[in-house]
Amino acid sequence: MANQLYKQVLFFFFFFLSVSLLQSKSFNLKKPCKHFVLYVHDIAYDGDNKANATSATILNPMGLGDFDFGQLVLVDNPLTMDQNYLSEPVARAQGFFFYNGMTNYNSWITWTLVFNSTQHKGTMTIMGANPIMEPTRVLSIVGGTGDFLMTRGIVTLKTKLVQGNKYFCLEMNIKLYECY
Ligand SMILES: *[C@@H]1O[C@H](CO)[C@@H](O)[C@H](O)[C@H]1NC(C)=O
Ligand SMILES: *[C@@H]1O[C@H](CO)[C@@H](O)[C@H](O)[C@H]1NC(C)=O
Repeated sequence: MANQLYKQVLFFFFFFLSVSLLQSKSFNLKKPCKHFVLYVHDIAYDGDNKANATSATILNPMGLGDFDFGQLVLVDNPLTMDQNYLSEPVARAQGFFFYNGMTNYNSWITWTLVFNSTQHKGTMTIMGANPIMEPTRVLSIVGGTGDFLMTRGIVTLKTKLVQGNKYFCLEMNIKLYECY
């Protein structure tokens, strides 16, 4: 009987010890484990720029408000280390975004950042609401593969340049809080 009790006490001791050890390995939200800045460039296909277009509107319902509501855009946009869109791309942002604002410009994006260089191989996926009229927007990084296996974090988006509906450049300030 005493032996049984002793075993149970021991079990709970090691159980709580391992739980607290796991917790002590929790994330430091003050200090990201990786932090870098990239720029994404989007050149919209206009029927006449096949050579350099990186995105295309594939759905465009007319008449649903004044803010492109319902427009769906597929992207394969280059990511560069600086703001010059002619710089050597280090990765690509592949996915889509759509406009979902009825009373203001608003969009929602899902992009997988695909790295396939000698420095980095892997992906990380960004998802979330992107209220483009705000000076900065914070979106979730929900996961990754390869060099970014199982990562999580946030990306702060800032619009750097917009040329009508032909071109835009966003700064992406990436902070990862979970790295393996
Ligand atoms: C893309 O190509 C078109 C046609 O060649 C050109 O007019 C336009 O300036 C180019 N856009 C960019 C951003 O280089
Ligand atoms: C990644 O790069 C390698 C080497 O350049 C190439 O063979 C491969 O097709 C690329 N993969 C993708 C998904 O682009």
